Amino acid sequence: MPSDVIAIDGPSASGKSTVARRVAARLGRLYVDSGALYRGITWRTLEEGRDPAVPAETLAVLQNLPVEFFVADGAVRFRIGGYEPVAEIRGERVNERVSEVAAVPEVRVQATAWLRAMADKGPLVMEGRDIGTVVFPDARFKFYLDASPEERARRRQGELTGTDVSRVMASLQTRDRRDSGRSTAPLRVASDARAVDTTGLSIDEVVDQIVASIEDHQAGV
Ligand code: DC
Repeated sequence: MPSDVIAIDGPSASGKSTVARRVAARLGRLYVDSGALYRGITWRTLEEGRDPAVPAETLAVLQNLPVEFFVADGAVRFRIGGYEPVAEIRGERVNERVSEVAAVPEVRVQATAWLRAMADKGPLVMEGRDIGTVVFPDARFKFYLDASPEERARRRQGELTGTDVSRVMASLQTRDRRDSGRSTAPLRVASDARAVDTTGLSIDEVVDQIVASIEDHQAGV
């Protein structure tokens, strides 16, 4: 039996978070933001005064990480040390360091184990970089979302204020290069994923395409 997971992978600002959240709501599945977990580990490492550039420091934090997972508002979420970091994991401090943490193989092994265990909580829509390739290679459905670099920079800039598009694009490209160039679980398209170019499409159009593709498949079209 394949894992009852819809995997949605893609680079930063490809629109996958909003799309995945809406697909989950439409299909009555639990939404999982796997990047939030890497961000949470990065946040805690910084909170403990450790340096994420040194893998041993991150691993020392990871070893005793008091993490618990819970379901709320249609999503699987987590607390670390009894606290749910929400705004903290979206800040520049974490943005700048998270790809270093996500490149450490032992961090990926642990995060992957936690993500796989979430399948016990119910049918999932999980978004990330390696969900269809590594975390759930047997996922029932796999999508890979992308958009042109200019469009992704414009979307990300819409979430920020006072930053020009070319700077946003440079920062996204740096992160993409790190995510695609790392040796463990680099960002790539699973051979059996359906690629969706979201350039010029609204969120609703992308969600409709994904839901239709799943429903067609289930109806045997
Ligand atoms: O999707 P995001 O921007 O929140 O991801 C944060 C970082 O975590 C980003 O550098 C990529 C990394 N990541 C990963 O390596 N594997 C995942 N499954 C999800 C995110």
